Amino acid sequence: MDWRLQILTRTILGRIPFGNRFRELKRHVFGYRPDPDNLLNTVENLKQMKSELEALGRTFHGSSVLEIGSGWFPAIPLMLAAEGVKHIYLSDQTAHMDQITFKATLDFLRKNFPDAAHLQRINCLDDIPASYLAPFNIDKIANKSIDYIISRTVLEHIPAEQMIGFFQALRSRLAPNGLMVHMVDHSDHLEFNDKSISRINFLTWSRRQHAWINLLMKEGGNRLRHHEYLPLFKLAGFRVLSEKTFMHEATYEMAKKLKLSAPYSGMTPEQLSVLTSIYILAPEEK
Ligand SMILES: C[S@@+](CC[C@H](N)C(=O)[O-])C[C@H]1O[C@@H](n2cnc3c(N)ncnc32)[C@H](O)[C@@H]1O
Repeated sequence: MDWRLQILTRTILGRIPFGNRFRELKRHVFGYRPDPDNLLNTVENLKQMKSELEALGRTFHGSSVLEIGSGWFPAIPLMLAAEGVKHIYLSDQTAHMDQITFKATLDFLRKNFPDAAHLQRINCLDDIPASYLAPFNIDKIANKSIDYIISRTVLEHIPAEQMIGFFQALRSRLAPNGLMVHMVDHSDHLEFNDKSISRINFLTWSRRQHAWINLLMKEGGNRLRHHEYLPLFKLAGFRVLSEKTFMHEATYEMAKKLKLSAPYSGMTPEQLSVLTSIYILAPEEK
């Protein structure tokens, strides 16, 4: 769907009275199927996050995990259950997950990962050591109780000016030796459904245009590039233990040609073409 039409649709749907109730009803009648590519990617991203942790000599085994922004399809908690986590808190600003999306995820994972025997023993969220906190209230998490705070494709939805405060609030929940593992998708998410635009199309918009589009779509998305997160982590009291970046070749070429707005027009194609990052962060000693 054309990206402009996507903005229009979300602007209208976001303002329909009882829109959430209507979506719930639709889900009950027609079900809610996950996007197979997105779920396969999610499992792959979890593998990448795990291997980055393992490179630091760490594993999820026996740990308490807080997932920020679990979304609709709980693939990460379901796959993490096999790692012997002590407890996993799924959390979200809004309760997106329900029994229908849980079951759809479970069915998908069982079909695509037949060797994951633990999935056969799961029927509902109570079958894994997990709780769902949505709407998320950080006060529900005890200080120094979490070994790993993780997220996938969430940080890019948090307004840049809120990022430092957001991290500072999470910091006190980390246990001694606790770490954060965040996977960020830096691409223009409107491109997912409109392949006619580049993956950095939104960097051609002025700041003002971006703010207007966010307002219309009721979205807090930022356009921070990989390297722009680093000073924010530092200001929030974290040091970067590892950063893995995935560069997108076609975007590298596109970045040389596109008429980008400031500050992106002053960035290098190398900086602009990193479309995925995995950061592992540790709190700085006080
Ligand atoms: C693109 S979805 C990603 C969902 C899931 N992590 C995945 O990989 O499929 C972004 C999620 O982050 C949540 N989110 C956005 N801002 C948040 C915040 N400040 N606190 C908690 N969750 C947030 C949204 O509600 C949404 O569920």
